[in-house]
Amino acid sequence: METVNVPSHVGIIMDGNGRWATAKGQKRSYGHKHGSANVDNIVTHAFKRGVKSLTLYAFSAENWARPKEEVDELMKLLKAYLKKFAKKLYKNDVRLIVIGGREELSEDLRKAISEVEEKSKDNKSNILNIAINYGGRQEIVNAVKRLIEKGEEITVNGISENLYTSLSGDPDLIIRTGGELRLSNFLLYQGAYSELYFTDVLWPDFNEIEFDKAMEEFGHRKRRFGKV
Ligand code: FPP
Repeated sequence: METVNVPSHVGIIMDGNGRWATAKGQKRSYGHKHGSANVDNIVTHAFKRGVKSLTLYAFSAENWARPKEEVDELMKLLKAYLKKFAKKLYKNDVRLIVIGGREELSEDLRKAISEVEEKSKDNKSNILNIAINYGGRQEIVNAVKRLIEKGEEITVNGISENLYTSLSGDPDLIIRTGGELRLSNFLLYQGAYSELYFTDVLWPDFNEIEFDKAMEEFGHRKRRFGKV
């Protein structure tokens, strides 16, 4: 596939696991399992396509309101992903960063996250940000608080530099699967000039071909950043 212009940083709202499972007469957790299995395919493919940073919305700060059984299942899948794919990330020179509030996570998930973050911290080829217990508004508030604590001036760049994704820069492209047309508190500050791509395809079905469609569409967008 000829790619005209490759986005350096892509954010993905991986929506539609629940509906995918329900349509198959299965429990929602079945959808999360398949959605989780899809993460490695898309991560591998995106980096192969030349994307430098990927930010995946795995669990929002608002998702705690879901039934406990579902929350537990998602947390289990996140831990399993870290255990299963850590070696591959190290081998491929990928740095993993988990973004979002850490304190609310279980001790063992926090431990698993710290281990992979620490072991991958010198990796340079790609960055994989996984958003867990993440909220864009909360992130902005935290960045402002940090500036105040450091006695620094509150500026547009100052806030940017204190966001979780500062190493990746602003996302060039934000993809949302699953048919909803909203951002749901994802990368609110850094998404100011991101190109948005919405697809009805549910996350477990969002394969490499679907990802390439988003890349192709991005390649034809004219980005003006407020200029003419
Ligand atoms: C949205 O589908 C998806 C989520 C809330 C969780 C996303 C999590 C994964 C893809 C699996 C774990 C992630 C990683 C990084 C290993 P939904 O449940 O809101 O679906 P619905 O809109 O059809 O109900």
